[in-house]
Amino acid sequence: MATAAYTLENFVSDLDRLTRDETSPLVITARVAPLLAKLVKDPHVVPVEFRRRPPGQKRGRYMLHRAPRFNVTSVVWGPGEAAAAHNHETWGVIGVIDNEIEETRYRVEEGVGGGRAKLEVKTVMRHAPGAVSCLVPGDEVHAMQNPTERDTVEIHVYGKDLAGLKRKTWAADGTEKPLVTPKYMNC
Ligand SMILES: [Fe+2]
Repeated sequence: MATAAYTLENFVSDLDRLTRDETSPLVITARVAPLLAKLVKDPHVVPVEFRRRPPGQKRGRYMLHRAPRFNVTSVVWGPGEAAAAHNHETWGVIGVIDNEIEETRYRVEEGVGGGRAKLEVKTVMRHAPGAVSCLVPGDEVHAMQNPTERDTVEIHVYGKDLAGLKRKTWAADGTEKPLVTPKYMNC
């Protein structure tokens, strides 16, 4: 007998249940990670129009489910697309559906002087399809890059709506800039 497929609807109801009573980002991400790993095994869990970039654009961002305690989005990174080091101010779990993504995690020492922070690379990871990466307070500053010649498709899950959230981004030399977007921003 074939095993029933794990759908986006199943994932959303699991997220709803998991975030109802639990507030610890460490516990939530540890529980969400294996579910997201199961979900991203099948690219068809995300409709094809949300696995493509809009014509002429370098990145695609799509809201798949927006709820008060979490949201689920798909992100499509064109070849060479990158996001500089940034934080999230919430927990997150990222899963790769297609191709691969390079993620660099940083240790940030703020207040070094001159509006700069000291960024130290902790790890550089290359995530293949099916891989999942967890962001928790204290270890959630990262840069992302598609180092390949084709599109990378991911699902991102966050514990807060990133629209209007006061976040930060850092240039390579540690210069800090506020990162607040009125529009939905899902990385
Ligand atoms: Fe991010």
